[in-house]
Amino acid sequence: MLQTKRLILDEVRGSDVETLNAIRNDPEVRIHLPTRAPESLDTTAGLIERMNEANRRQEGLNFAIRLLDARLIGFIGLWAIHPAERWGEIGFLIGKDYWNQGYAKEALGASLPVFQARGDCDEIRAVVHQDNVYSLRLLARFGFTQISISGEMPGFEIHRLATTAPAPERTGSVAP
Ligand SMILES: CC(C)(COP(=O)(O)OP(=O)(O)OC[C@H]1O[C@@H](n2cnc3c(N)ncnc32)[C@H](O)[C@@H]1OP(=O)(O)O)[C@@H](O)C(=O)NCCC(=O)NCCS
Repeated sequence: MLQTKRLILDEVRGSDVETLNAIRNDPEVRIHLPTRAPESLDTTAGLIERMNEANRRQEGLNFAIRLLDARLIGFIGLWAIHPAERWGEIGFLIGKDYWNQGYAKEALGASLPVFQARGDCDEIRAVVHQDNVYSLRLLARFGFTQISISGEMPGFEIHRLATTAPAPERTGSVAP
């Protein structure tokens, strides 16, 4: 678990499924994601299971993003690690009601040093749509730079940060 001034980053729980599903199905949240079709509750439940299974197997590190009152507002994770090529892919999402209040910045500021410190990745990548200005601004703020466009997904770019890059200043503390 990680804690910042305004957030708790911990495991996404089965009981989060309805809130997370509602956040993920907001058309404005989906607009720059690879798939825009609505997601069912079962699909979101499957996503939660996969995130936690990846955590258990040390094949990923995924967090729920909660306000201090425990309300789920999104998630952030190093959700796919490619051990042979030594890079991992991050993803993040904040519910629209909570946009533009610095929550993604705070969550990335807390989790990025942890992702960087794992030791199994030389770089962290993010796949972002070229029109996703908020996400691009966020990644640039943490030192990510574009390395290529995605060959598989038209309109998407790949951005990277070396794990040896200086970790951002922590915005909170890591609980023991
Ligand atoms: C991208 C996303 C995670 C940003 O979350 P957030 O909590 O609103 O981000 P922050 O408040 O930390 O702001 C990040 C940057 O975006 C800007 N921003 C965010 N929302 C904005 C808005 N509604 N209007 C203007 N700027 C906005 C902020 O000003 C900030 O830029 P700055 O550092 O230059 O000031 C959120 O918009 C989201 O979940 N989008 C849908 C899913 C998605 O695109 N995920 C990323 C896939 S790669």
